[in-house]
Order: sequence, then C-alpha cells, then structure tokens
Amino acid sequence: MHAITIEQPGGPEALLWTEVPDPTPGEGEVVVEVTAAAVNRADVMQRQGHYPPPPGAPPYLGLECSGVITAIGPGVTGRHVGERVCALLAGGGYAEQVAVPEGQLLPVPQGMSLQEAAALPEVACTVWSNVVDIARLRKGDTLLVHGGGGGIGTFAVQLGKALGATVIVTAREPKHARLLDLGADLAIDYTSSDFVGATLDFTEGRGANVILDIVGAKYLDRNVAALAPDGRIAIIGLQGGRRGELDLGALMGKRGSVSATTLRARSVADKARIVAGVRERVWPLVDAGAIRPIIDRAVPMRDAADAHRLMESSDHVGKILLLP
Ligand SMILES: NC(=O)c1ccc[n+]([C@@H]2O[C@H](COP(=O)([O-])OP(=O)(O)OC[C@H]3O[C@@H](n4cnc5c(N)ncnc54)[C@H](OP(=O)(O)O)[C@@H]3O)[C@@H](O)[C@H]2O)c1
Repeated sequence: MHAITIEQPGGPEALLWTEVPDPTPGEGEVVVEVTAAAVNRADVMQRQGHYPPPPGAPPYLGLECSGVITAIGPGVTGRHVGERVCALLAGGGYAEQVAVPEGQLLPVPQGMSLQEAAALPEVACTVWSNVVDIARLRKGDTLLVHGGGGGIGTFAVQLGKALGATVIVTAREPKHARLLDLGADLAIDYTSSDFVGATLDFTEGRGANVILDIVGAKYLDRNVAALAPDGRIAIIGLQGGRRGELDLGALMGKRGSVSATTLRARSVADKARIVAGVRERVWPLVDAGAIRPIIDRAVPMRDAADAHRLMESSDHVGKILLLP
C-alpha cells in the first residue's frame, strides 16, 4: 500500500507519498481500507518531530479515518468484511489501509457519505470526553469554546447546542458568520476583543460554566476570570504554551476545577470506553442531523503537504479531508 511517510521531521514538504508494507490485523483488530482520513493539529506537531506516536501505534500520521473492513484479526466478533465504518486511530490514517482495534470503530451515521464520516471520530471523542464526561456540561449551562472555527471547535459548538447549552466561541472575525450559523450564540474576535469582558457581559456577570480550551498557559488566568461559580475548565491544547501560573485563590473563590487530557495517549481499553460513550450519547444526535461534519475541503492524500499548509494558516473552517 501507499502511506504518507516522514524521512526527516520538518515543514510540510517532509510529507512523502511512499510505498510501504500492508498492515495485518493483530489480536482484536480489523484492517480498514481507507476511503478518507482527516487532518488534526496533532499531525502538524508529529510532522515537526514534537509528538511521537505512542508505543504500538502505526508510525504514519492520522488520528481518524473512514473506510471498509477488508480483514478481521483473531478475537474479533460481530464484524464482517465489507462493513463500512469510521474509526478513532492512535496513528496510521494517512495511508491506503490501517489496522484498528475493534473498540475504536464507529458506524457511519445515517444519511452521511463514507467520506464525510472521516471528519468525526477524533473530534467527537475529544469533545465528548472533555466537555461531557469530564466537565459535565448540562442543559442550561454556558459553554465557552476557544478556537471555535477549527475542527474541534465546530464540533463543540454543535454538541453544546444539541445538549441545550448557550455557546460562546472565540475565533477570528471572518469565521463568525459560519459559527453563528452553526448555532453559536456569541462569537468573540480574540484578536481585537477581551473574551473575559465579553463573556461576563453576555452572561450578565455569571461567566461560563464550562470552558473548552486549546490555548493553555496564556489563557489560564483569563479562563479563571471568565469562569462561573462551580465552573470547569477543560484544557486540551497548548497552542499558547504549557507552563503558566495559576492563581489558586481565584480558582478556589469560584470553586472551579481545571482538567487537562490527551486522547491519543489513553489505553486501548479507555479509548473503547470513550468510543462506546460517543456511540451511545453522541451518535443519535448525528443520526438525527443535529450535528453534522463541517468540512472545509478534501484534498488528495498524496498532497497532504498542502493540507498541512492550510491548517497552519488557520484559514480553514472545520475539518480538512485527505483522499487516498
Ligand atoms: N487533548 C486532546 O486529546 C486533543 C485532541 C484533539 C485536538 N486537540 C487540540 O485541540 C486544538 C484544536 O485542534 P483542531 O484539530 O481543531 O485544530 P484547528 O482545526 O487548526 O483549530 C484550531 C483553531 O484555533 C484557532 N485559534 C488559534 N489561536 C487561538 C486563540 N488564541 N484563541 C482562539 N482561537 C484560536 C484558529 O482559528 P482562528 O485563529 O482563525 O480563529 C484555528 O483554526 C489543538 O490545539 C489540538 O492539539 C487536543
């Protein structure tokens, strides 16, 4: 098969379409012939050499894909060759085939093309596990989503609305119309406005009950300032640095909490638990059309370098697909 390989970590030009050995399914795995894969920010970091794949993961980039099962490994039950699936991956999506643990497979949602389904597994699992499973978003809460225009952000807006929350996003202004159309109640241009003041004004001084944060250190203090009493900050990205100072007095005053997680490093069993939760709680919302994949564009997988340049420009809205 072919896959995108990296001879030397570096810029987008490091991504090469190369002939590599076919995968074989291990215990509890199936092999999926890839119809589409999707690009995630983490892929950019891996390309640059800052985010090595966890032990046992395929060496190639790619945290999610869709496709058709072509081989079934020992110990797998209830799957068949020819089944259409999408999958959460620890790596290996930028390829014509990938081996996937059975517990990381999801069905293709109703009324959705196999290609579109590639845009969902990583964002659905990340957003659900952080916003709902950990930060316990409830109906009537206010959810503040940083990076609202990205793959994670566009999914979080829709999930928040589908669960009955008020949703505030931060994003550059050209993305606001799309985000309001997706259901966001307020869009803040973080390059020209203070999101703390805007959030407090909009919530009549209460603040956000849950904050999904991709910025990290640079926003720590301001996130606490924008938090409602008993609020929860879920950090999933470090685009603004990893070391910051936290005013614990301010956090205690809000009875607030801060969590920080990464999905990729979780065990196969833990990923299976999250995928099962997504299937039970999120997939019905997708089947019903309340959440849809937001796809900026699809590019040939061999041109993955162009997809990475687009992601690094941040000019995309939603997801970028790669077609082998
Ligand atoms: N921990 C986990 O398990 C996990 C899993 C998946 C993703 N992530 C993280 O989640 C983040 C988003 O991933 P993604 O794949 O959705 O990337 P993405 O599509 O590139 O979205 C990120 C968006 O953030 C916006 N942004 C950048 N700086 C910002 C700031 N200071 N305030 C608000 N928005 C800002 C950019 O848009 P504009 O600046 O144009 O508005 C960009 O489009 C990444 O940091 C990624 O590493 C974590």
